[in-house]
Amino acid sequence: MKGVILAGGTGTRLHPMTKLINKHLLPVGNVPMLHFAVQKLSEAGVRDILLIIPKLSSGLFIEYFGSGAEWNVRITYRVQDQAGGSAKALGMAEGFIQSQEKFILLLGDNIYEASLSGYIAAFERQTAGAMVLLKQVNDPHRYGVPELDGTVIKRIEEKPVDPKSDYCVTGIYLYDGSVFDKVSSLEPSKRGELEITDVNNLYAAEGTLKYDVLQGWWTDAGTPASLVEAAARVLRENE
Ligand code: DAU
Repeated sequence: MKGVILAGGTGTRLHPMTKLINKHLLPVGNVPMLHFAVQKLSEAGVRDILLIIPKLSSGLFIEYFGSGAEWNVRITYRVQDQAGGSAKALGMAEGFIQSQEKFILLLGDNIYEASLSGYIAAFERQTAGAMVLLKQVNDPHRYGVPELDGTVIKRIEEKPVDPKSDYCVTGIYLYDGSVFDKVSSLEPSKRGELEITDVNNLYAAEGTLKYDVLQGWWTDAGTPASLVEAAARVLRENE
């Protein structure tokens, strides 16, 4: 299975630091944030990886990851000239992913403990649709929050004021080949972006959005506090 990692966007929650350098290159311990996503895919046997990178700091991504040989993977780069939303960035993977191909998509600012292997194997067995990984959190209003219905998700509410559960949708998504048709049917959200949650809700409406719960610790690293939390977790793990 191929992998796609999103590392675009403007990282406004980490301004002004991220006016100088892209969020995914900020240090978490002694490596840049995006190191973890590439490493997780490599450890799960994903050998063909597309990195969607922004113009800001684009050379630094290539300096750090190069061809991917150090991780025993092959990296392809595509540059998102202007931030337009996570689903816009996802749409840029069309062509790298063939029409009937399943793949895994990672948001580059998520850091976690578990191996992806078991979830990838489960999705290989799923006949069609998509799968997301959930995590119980104390602050669900910061994330996409799912409404569950047995083994499928009925709907995801993005950053709800009044969350219906304490689960959040993590930035780990597995898609079938119909995802690009879904992306091309999207309209910009209130904040003017194409949103990954709207893609997932199209699967949910079809009744094909499955889920599992991610084992071990998980955090995003897109705010000053969560960036510090991510570094602390990683350092503790390496002690
Ligand atoms: O971390 C999990 C959360 O990630 C989910 O619970 C939410 O449902 C999901 O929408 C997302 O929330 P964020 O507020 O973090 O999304 P954001 O749009 O800020 O960016 C997510 C990633 O997508 C980030 O790593 C960078 C990438 N991105 C974002 C934009 C706007 C791009 O590659 N290009 C873009 O234009």
